[in-house]
Parts: sequence; structure tokens; C-alpha cells
Amino acid sequence: MPTPHPDIAPKRVSMVVPTFQEAGNLPLLIQRVTRVAQQQGWEPELLIMDDDSQDGSDRAVAGAGVGWASLITRHTDRGLSPAVLDGLRRAKGDYLVVLDADLSHPPEQIPELIAALDSGADFALGSRYVEGGSTDHDWGLFRWLNSRIATFLARPLTHVKDPMSGFFAIKRETFEAGRQFSPIGYKIGLELLVKCRCKKPVEVPIHFADRQIGKSKLTLTEQLKYIKHVRRLLIFKYGKGTALTQFFVVGTIGAIINLTALTVALRMGLRASMAVGIGIGVSFSTNFLLSRRFAFTDVRNRALISDFVRFASASLPGAIVNYGLTMALYKPPGPIGSPQLAAVIGIITGALLNFLFNRYFAFRARHYKPRGAKP
Ligand code: GDD
Ligand code: MN
Repeated sequence: MPTPHPDIAPKRVSMVVPTFQEAGNLPLLIQRVTRVAQQQGWEPELLIMDDDSQDGSDRAVAGAGVGWASLITRHTDRGLSPAVLDGLRRAKGDYLVVLDADLSHPPEQIPELIAALDSGADFALGSRYVEGGSTDHDWGLFRWLNSRIATFLARPLTHVKDPMSGFFAIKRETFEAGRQFSPIGYKIGLELLVKCRCKKPVEVPIHFADRQIGKSKLTLTEQLKYIKHVRRLLIFKYGKGTALTQFFVVGTIGAIINLTALTVALRMGLRASMAVGIGIGVSFSTNFLLSRRFAFTDVRNRALISDFVRFASASLPGAIVNYGLTMALYKPPGPIGSPQLAAVIGIITGALLNFLFNRYFAFRARHYKPRGAKP
């Protein structure tokens, strides 16, 4: 057991625990955390962030008689992630630790997380999925599969093996450098990993024990929020890339639709001036629907008609240029004999114009600044 060195100032460690109806778990949690803190010689702080459980949690904390442990009753902005963020903002320590109240996360391993931060990690994660990590056996197939799928979805965001973990430590300065927190759902660790732009996360293997008392609050609704959360994080991380990717995907599909409609119209014996117009008209509509699908929720929530007006006003100049150029190139004695080839050049030119317009008028993400944008 490491003993505190008399010459070195004790480490200031703040532990934040989100709780909802965990009264039964709090006495043992406080006891185990206290033992660790004493052995390590820390200057500890335990912040129990409770969403007004009204189950005697406050008495359980007061009864433990530990001066540095306090229960904070929250009445607004309920939820696991907001509670954790709230606690981290109040915390006074240099090392910030987050763990569950149900003792799934062994407090005895907090020193390992802190040691990882001391050796250069900017995020230390208690992990079930690295070598040496494990979970209790009675994890059902559903929960296991669920956790694995969620982990897979987080791949573009981080390479850690257990990004779903709610047991982690971070230095105060790393946390304070974090920007634009928008915690939804359960994955506050992932939120911090991405929003604090952690570059050197380290995973410490843990045994994730099943809770003995009380029941899990992880409902299906909470899980569905995860998909929304991942999308927000992707936009945060790859902001510009996403808009650009969206433009290319929609644009390429639109070009294929345009050329197909044009060809069909010509085969039906329509004049080129009509066929080119039909190709543009059809892809104009499908591009609108596709852009709307791809767009961010806050934008999509608006009425269809107002979205269409925005889209049309931003895309019409491109469509007109497309039409004019295609016809100028193809219409005898124009330089290009194939209407499709002329259309490709018209599409590319029109798309470039549309890109500039779309960037500045339609379908812009309003709440999320792209990476590197000035605040
Ligand atoms: N303040 C507050 N408000 N706390 C909450 C809320 C809430 O709405 N919901 C849950 N908590 C607290 C619980 O009291 C517990 O201390 C902790 O958050 C975790 O909740 P559990 O209900 O035990 O969740 P779990 O065991 O299913 O999920 C845990 O493991 C997951 C990995 O399997 C959490 O650590 C997750 O973050 C983690 O992803
Ligand atoms: Mn739990």
C-alpha cells in the first residue's frame, strides 16, 4: 500500500457520483471510498449529485459522518449526464473522478486511474473490455449485445475499447478546456472524451460488478438517446466534413437521377430542351428530400414548406446555370454532341454554385460550430 509522503502536498481528488434512489448503496460506497482516500493520503471530496430521490439518501450521507462527503439535491435538469457535469463544475480538486453509486465501479481502483493521469494520460477510463477487465456473469445476452453495438457506433469518435464506461478520471485543466457540452443520455464519459478533445486516453482494466441493491435506471428511452448523442458528437468532431460529405452524397445521387431522367425523356422522344429541364426538375426535388433527410434535427424540425423555400432559393441559381450551360453546349451548333455529356458539365458547374449558396443560406447547422471555428 502506498503511504502518503510527508513532503508532498496531498493530491486533491474530487469524486462525483450521480445518484437516483441509491440510499441503500450509499453507506458502503462512502465506507469504501473513505478507506481508499485514507490509504492514499488524499485531500478528498465526494459529491453525490442526487436528483431529489426522496428515499433517505440525504440521511444516509449525513449519517456516515464524513465531512468531505456531501449530497447535493438537484431539482432541475435531471439526468445522469447533467448531474455529472454539474458535479464536475462544482468540484474543487485537481483530479476529477466519476463513478456510479451502485458499486459496479470499484473505488479501490481509483488510484490506478489517477496514476494513469500522472503518467501522461489525459483521460483514464475504467474498462471492461481490455485485457484483465471483466463483467459479472449474469449479464444477459441482450445487455452484452447492446453494449457491443453501442461501442461499435462510437468507433469514429474514439478508439478506446469501452467508451460506454461511466467510471473515469480526468484532470481539472482537461475538463476546463472542454467546450459545448450537450449531455444527453448516459454516456457522459464519451461526451467528455470527445468534447475535451482527449488525445491520450488510457484504459485501466476493471471488474464491473453487478449491483446488489436497487435497480438500474437505464431504460430503452435512455438508450435511444444514445443515437442522437453519437450524431451530435460526430458533428462536433467532424463538423465541416459532415456538411461536405452530405453535399457530395446528395450531389452524386442527384446527378445520377438527373442523367437517368434525361435519358428516359429523350428515349420517349421529347425534345432536348424539355428533357434537360425534366432531368433538372426531378433531381431538384429528390435533392431537396435527401438534403432534408441528411440535415440536422434542429433544421429538420421546421415546416416542410419553409424548408423548401430556403432550399429552392439557394439552389435555383445553380439549376438555372445548369440548364443554360447544358443547352448552350449541346444545342446544335453547340460544341458537344451528346446531351448527357453536356448535362454532366452543366451539373458540375451548377453544383459548384449551389455549394456556395447552400453553405451560406440553406441547411446550415446552427448550434454546432465546426472544428477550429472561432468562438
Ligand atoms: N442524478 C442522477 N439522475 N443519477 C442517475 C440518474 C438520473 O437520472 N439515472 C441514473 N443515475 C445514477 C444511478 O443512481 C447510478 O449511480 C448511476 O447513475 C448509473 O446508473 P445505473 O442505473 O446503475 O446504470 P447502469 O448500471 O445500467 O449503467 C452503468 O453502466 C454502463 C455501462 O454498462 C453506467 O455507468 C453507465 O454510464 C455505463 O454506460
Ligand atoms: Mn449500475
